[in-house]
Amino acid sequence: MAKKKTLFECQSCGFQTPRWMGKCPSCNEWESLIELNSEQIKFLKETSTISTQTNTNKAKPITEINEDNVTRFSSGSRELDLVLGGGIVPGSLTLIGGSPGVGKSTLLLKIAGNLAKTNKKVLYVSGEESAGQIKLRANRLDANHDALYLLPEISLSSVIAEISSKSYEFIIIDSIQTLYSDETPSAPGSVTQVRTITFDLMRIAKSMHIPIFIIGHITKDGSIAGPRVLEHMVDIVLYFEGDTNSELRLLRGFKNRFGSTNEVGIFEMNKHGLNDAKSMAGKFFDKEKLQSGSALTVIMEGSRPIIIEVQALVSESYGHAKRSSTGFDNNRLNMLLALLEKKLDLPLGTHDVFINISGGVKVNEPSADLAIIAAILSSYRDRELSAETLFLGEVSLTGEIREVSSLSQRIKEIETQGFKKAIVPTKPIENSNIKCFIADEVSKIVEWIFI
Ligand SMILES: Nc1ncnc2c1ncn2[C@@H]1O[C@H](COP(=O)(O)OP(=O)(O)OP(=O)(O)O)[C@@H](O)[C@H]1O
Ligand SMILES: [Mg+2]
Repeated sequence: MAKKKTLFECQSCGFQTPRWMGKCPSCNEWESLIELNSEQIKFLKETSTISTQTNTNKAKPITEINEDNVTRFSSGSRELDLVLGGGIVPGSLTLIGGSPGVGKSTLLLKIAGNLAKTNKKVLYVSGEESAGQIKLRANRLDANHDALYLLPEISLSSVIAEISSKSYEFIIIDSIQTLYSDETPSAPGSVTQVRTITFDLMRIAKSMHIPIFIIGHITKDGSIAGPRVLEHMVDIVLYFEGDTNSELRLLRGFKNRFGSTNEVGIFEMNKHGLNDAKSMAGKFFDKEKLQSGSALTVIMEGSRPIIIEVQALVSESYGHAKRSSTGFDNNRLNMLLALLEKKLDLPLGTHDVFINISGGVKVNEPSADLAIIAAILSSYRDRELSAETLFLGEVSLTGEIREVSSLSQRIKEIETQGFKKAIVPTKPIENSNIKCFIADEVSKIVEWIFI
């Protein structure tokens, strides 16, 4: 009797193996391998032979090739245009990921409304909500327009038929995990489904020059649910961040084939939807409410400086000392604590230390190190830091305070926001009214931080 062929596929990265394993050797995810049935194996075999047979393009010298005409158009949102690198590129496939309720559908429906008002024919495909539900949201966002079409549908073939029936100029898919291709014998949201659908949408975007935005749900660890291959296939990957308790949302570029990923879009959620934040100044801190354990610093989000509040809580530990941080790298926190213990003789090994960056901001640059140290010292001594002073500097393993990028721009923001003092690693080049204290060693700042 012929031996039955089995194939297991990782639901996280698409890795395939004939043997079941508890942990995927490709992406290290646990219990992500599921067995494919004979129909699914047959489908995979067929699609792999089709792709080798249809490859008939001939290579040409690069000098004979005309470049693509990238004429961007505005999405009607200054912040989204900034993250995209100057506007929407026709024929591009963009993936927007974000946790539940962060505002993905709200943002894209608003953009759909903006574009419809410029007489672009827009198709909003929703597999999650009914047309009536979306209409309710559109009323709230003031996104009603004749040129905006809604299609509550989960079947990819119906979506493709609709796209072919009218000359749409912008398409939104909400969400990729709910679409279903009849040609693929797996459940919606599975690796094979998501891969096939994205491939088809990519073909439509490129061949018809229509920009397509896809919404993707994210898993608990913050990556797009479904295969990582999704991120590789699309042109642009954007992530929505933000604390659902605060009204601010950050849209961060993770990958962009048409621009840089340095810029961050900042939006405000209110009852009229998600709008461009008018000014970020003062959104991430409250000068009047600073208490012991809070320190202010300036981080650069793309080309923009933002003043943020860093909070620390140091309390005596009854057992194994805990260290936990939200919005800041835990390993870096451990390094700073070890440094404080060694250089300043602080008995932090017997204390729990918690760090939080207010407003749901994630700090990805080392310039906030000094502020973290100041907040820890402030909480440990239970003494408030001056609400007029900001802390800037990267701290090295030797306790040296290193310079930060764009110092003059950061100091200018501090001045604009009405602060008076800053503890910095080097003297800023440009003159300002800010009194700068130059600190080059961690051991030296202790005498200065409570000034
Ligand atoms: N009437 C309202 N007034 C103010 N804010 C609202 C109102 N209705 C919804 N919201 C806000 O919009 C958010 C939901 O936004 P949205 O549905 O766009 O999120 P989503 O990211 O698409 O979520 P999901 O992943 O569940 O689809 C809510 O969390 C809430 O903050
Ligand atoms: Mg939604």
